[in-house]
Amino acid sequence: MKKKVIILFGLILSVGLIFMACSSPTVVETSDDSSVEEVVVVSDEIAAAELDSCTDCHNDTTLIVSKEVQWENSLHGSGLTFERNGADCAGCHTSEGYTERITAGTFTASEDVENPSPINCRTCHSIHDTYTSADWTLTSSEPVTFELTGDTYDLGNSNQCATCHQPRPADVPLVDGGDYEITSTRFGPHHGPQSSMIAGVGGYGEEYVGSNIHYEYVDDGCIGCHMTDTAYGKQAGGHSFNVTYEYHEETVEYLTGCIVCHEDIESFDRNGVQTEIEELLEEVHVLLVAQGLIDGESGSGIAGTFTSDQAGALWNYKTVEEDRSMGIHNPGYTKFLLETALEALE
Ligand code: HEC
Ligand code: HEC
Ligand code: HEC
Ligand code: HEC
Ligand code: HEC
Ligand code: HEC
Repeated sequence: MKKKVIILFGLILSVGLIFMACSSPTVVETSDDSSVEEVVVVSDEIAAAELDSCTDCHNDTTLIVSKEVQWENSLHGSGLTFERNGADCAGCHTSEGYTERITAGTFTASEDVENPSPINCRTCHSIHDTYTSADWTLTSSEPVTFELTGDTYDLGNSNQCATCHQPRPADVPLVDGGDYEITSTRFGPHHGPQSSMIAGVGGYGEEYVGSNIHYEYVDDGCIGCHMTDTAYGKQAGGHSFNVTYEYHEETVEYLTGCIVCHEDIESFDRNGVQTEIEELLEEVHVLLVAQGLIDGESGSGIAGTFTSDQAGALWNYKTVEEDRSMGIHNPGYTKFLLETALEALE
C-alpha cells in the first residue's frame, strides 16, 4: 500500500515536472523578432528557477517524510472530527474552513465546507504558494485577539495554534449578576480553551492578579512544550503535537520541553500541582452535582435557571476540564478559577 502511494507520488511529480518543462517558455506573439527572443530567455530562467526550487523540499532527505509520519500520529492527522464541516464548526475543524477564515479575517467560515479535509500541511504552511522553501511560512502567525474576551495572545509561532485553540464566544456569567439561564447541556467554553488559559483570561470571577508563569517564560508558547524536536520517533513532540505517548502499554510523559527550564523535573506533576488541581476539581464537581448543575451520572451540564455565580462556577469547572492540562498550562490561574468556583458555590 505505502509503496503504491510512493510510486504514484513519483509519477505525479515527474508528470508535473515534465509538464512544467514543456509548457515553458511561453512565446508571446509579436512582430518584432528580437523581443520574442528576450521573452523566451526570461521565461527559461523562471522555469529553471522554479524547477530548482522544487528540490528545496522534494529531495533525497526525509524532511517531509519525517514530519508526515509524526503528523499522521497526531489527532490533527487522524482527523476524528473533521466531519464537523458546518459553517459554525468548519473554521477550526476543517482545513478549508480555516483557510477561508484566516484569509477573510473572520471567526467563522461563511458556509458549510464540501469535501472537507482534516488539519494538514496546507492548513498551517503555505504549501505550493511560491513553490520555494519560503512556503514553509506559517499561514497565520499574527497575534490573536480572543473572540471571547478581546484579549491578545502573542507568543511567536504558537499564535497559529491559538487561532483555533481558543474558547468559542459566549456570555461569561458575571459576579453577582442575578439570574442566569443555561440553555444548553454543552454550556462552557467548548473543547479548546488552552490559549486563553495560558494567557490567564476568560474565566468567571473578580480580576485575577496572580502571574501567568508559562505565558511569561515560554516564548513560543505551545511549541515549547508540544513541538520540541522529537527524539522518540513519531509518538511525541514535533509534528505529533503530543506531550504523552504509549510505550509498552504505558503512558509516558514527554518531558523534553520542560527540562529546558526545570532541570530536575521527573513528572508533569511538579510540586504536586496536578494532584492539587485534581482534588480541587473534584470538590467543585461534588458541589455542582449537589446543586443540580451537572448530571452526576452522565457528567454533562443541566439546562435551567441558576444564579450567575452558580453558572460561573460551572463555567470555570468546564474551562479547567476542557483545558486538559490539569494546571500545567497556567498553575496559578487554574487554581484561581477553581477556588473562585468553590467560593461561589458555598
Ligand atoms: C515548501 C516545500 C515544497 C516545495 C518548494 C514544493 N513542494 Fe510539492 N509538496 C510539498 C508538501 C509538504 C507536499 C505534501 C502536501 C500534502 O500532503 O498536503 C507536496 C506535495 C507535492 C505533490 C503531490 C501532490 C500534491 O499536490 O499533494 C506534487 C506532485 C508536488 N508536491 C510537486 C511539486 C513541484 C513540481 C514543485 C516545484 C514547482 C514543488 N512541489 C515544490 C512541499 C513542497
Ligand atoms: C474556535 C475553534 C473551534 C470551533 C469554532 C469549534 N471547535 Fe470543536 N474543537 C476545537 C478544538 C481546538 C478542539 C480540540 C480540543 C482538544 O482536543 O482538547 C475541538 C474538539 C471538538 C470535539 C472533540 C471533543 C472530544 O471530547 O473529543 C468535538 C466533538 C467538537 N469539537 C465539535 C464541534 C462542533 C460540533 C462545533 C460547531 C458547532 C465546533 N466543534 C466548533 C475548536 C473549535
Ligand atoms: C497545526 C499546524 C501544523 C501542521 C498541520 C503542520 N505543521 Fe509544520 N510546522 C508548524 C509550526 C508551528 C512549525 C514551526 C515550529 C517551530 O517554531 O519550531 C512548523 C515547522 C515545520 C517545518 C520546519 C520549517 C522550517 O522553516 O525549517 C517543516 C519542514 C514542516 N513544518 C513540515 C510540515 C509538513 C510536511 C506537514 C504535513 C505533514 C506539516 N508541517 C504540518 C505547524 C504545522
Ligand atoms: C485549524 C485549527 C487548529 C490549529 C491551527 C491547531 N489546532 Fe490543534 N486541534 C484542533 C482540533 C479541531 C483538534 C481536535 C481534532 C480531533 O479531535 O479530530 C486539535 C487537537 C490538538 C491536540 C490533540 C489533543 C488530544 O486530545 O490529544 C493537540 C495537542 C493540539 N491540537 C495542539 C496544537 C498545537 C500545538 C497547535 C499549533 C502548532 C495546533 N494544535 C494548531 C484544531 C487546531
Ligand atoms: C508549559 C508547557 C506547555 C505549554 C506552553 C502548552 N502546553 Fe498543552 N499541555 C502541556 C502538558 C504537560 C499537557 C498534558 C498534561 C497531562 O497529560 O497530564 C498538556 C495538554 C494539552 C492538551 C490536551 C491533550 C494532550 O495532549 O494531553 C491540549 C489540546 C494542549 N495541551 C494544547 C496546547 C496548546 C494549544 C497550547 C498553546 C496555546 C499549549 N498546549 C501550551 C504542556 C504545555
Ligand atoms: C521556558 C521555561 C519553562 C518551560 C519550557 C516550562 N516551564 Fe514550568 N515554569 C517555568 C517558570 C519560570 C516557573 C516559575 C518558577 C518555578 O516554579 O520554578 C514555572 C512553574 C511551573 C510549575 C508551578 C510550580 C509550583 O510549585 O507552583 C509547574 C507545575 C510547571 N512549571 C510545570 C512545567 C511542565 C510540566 C513543563 C513541561 C511540559 C514546564 N513547566 C515547562 C518555566 C518553564
